[in-house]
Amino acid sequence: MNPYPLLRPALFSLDAETAHHLTLNSLNTAHRLGLLALTTPQPADDPREAMGLKFPNPVGLAAGLDKNGECIDALGAVGFGFIEIGTITPLPQPGNPKPRLFRLPEVQGIINRMGFNNLGVDALIENVKRANYRGILGINIGKNAVTPIEKAADDYLIGLRKVYIHASYVAVNISSPNTKNLRQLQGGDELDALLGQLKTEQLKLADQHGKYVPLTVKIAPDLDAGQIREIAALLVRHQIDGVIATNTTLSRDGVAHLPHGHETGGLSGAPVREKSTAVIRALAAELDGALPIIGVGGILNGEDAVEKIRAGAALVQIYSGLIYRGPALVSECCAALKNR
Ligand SMILES: Cc1cc2nc3c(=O)[nH]c(=O)nc-3n(C[C@H](O)[C@H](O)[C@H](O)COP(=O)(O)O)c2cc1C
Repeated sequence: MNPYPLLRPALFSLDAETAHHLTLNSLNTAHRLGLLALTTPQPADDPREAMGLKFPNPVGLAAGLDKNGECIDALGAVGFGFIEIGTITPLPQPGNPKPRLFRLPEVQGIINRMGFNNLGVDALIENVKRANYRGILGINIGKNAVTPIEKAADDYLIGLRKVYIHASYVAVNISSPNTKNLRQLQGGDELDALLGQLKTEQLKLADQHGKYVPLTVKIAPDLDAGQIREIAALLVRHQIDGVIATNTTLSRDGVAHLPHGHETGGLSGAPVREKSTAVIRALAAELDGALPIIGVGGILNGEDAVEKIRAGAALVQIYSGLIYRGPALVSECCAALKNR
């Protein structure tokens, strides 16, 4: 039995961030009691290969839900083909003042301005070491709020060096709207310099550890055709292994009239779906298969996952859909994608 439809009204009666922590704690408890695998439909195997990695199915967890890697085993039991933890920063930081997370249930959307609240990279690594999960684990890295944007590369390099050996792939988050000026790093010159440094370090680490860990970059949905073309060219030139499209949007199209629709932050869920798919489609045309796209943004049902793959994604990720639909969304998406 899927208990989520019964639990959701109680969770939605709580403030969104309280519900978030309660859900993660309950997931861990349910997993320890062996209840999670029993109550969550397990997806059938549908192996995919991308970035030299073998994924048991193409449906992953997007970054931001388990920022510190505190629920890796429980999330693994939900049946994801891969799990991305983070965004993590070199030093712990509290993030923005609360409230900073808002549901827009009328449109199945979420606005967040969390601001990379996290326990820091060392705490995340301890959690990864403690986990029994042996599936694909992405680790998403970012910069501390106090680090000036001109020094952003230093933070990403610290993150890359520390997480490298613990990750199946590393995701470089340059698209959160909640860290001042972060999205500037998507600009031509800044991105060229950042990717150059990260690639050099990746190859050095690969040599040092005798293990090549793919590097991916996560981009925003708020990019025009010219910016997408420029980013795609740089990803290819620097031999980046994958691209995650997309993060949350700054647009308020279709939500401005709703309670909380005016809150500052990034909008996710159903309202970002079309924007995110359009970026994937444009990116796929530019990349022409040079590197795989992980499609994320507004997947609320199986058909939405199919839309992302049709637009050119090799794999998909979900976050907001889990809040609205619960963990059964994972197997629903897997079933819709099977053999596609
Ligand atoms: C509350 C919240 C926190 C998030 N935190 C992060 C984060 O730390 N790093 C990141 O790369 N993306 C973060 N995201 C963005 C998601 O990973 C995803 O890219 C975006 O929400 C679009 O997918 P969705 O519509 O399925 O939620 C966050 C999203 C939400 C809703």
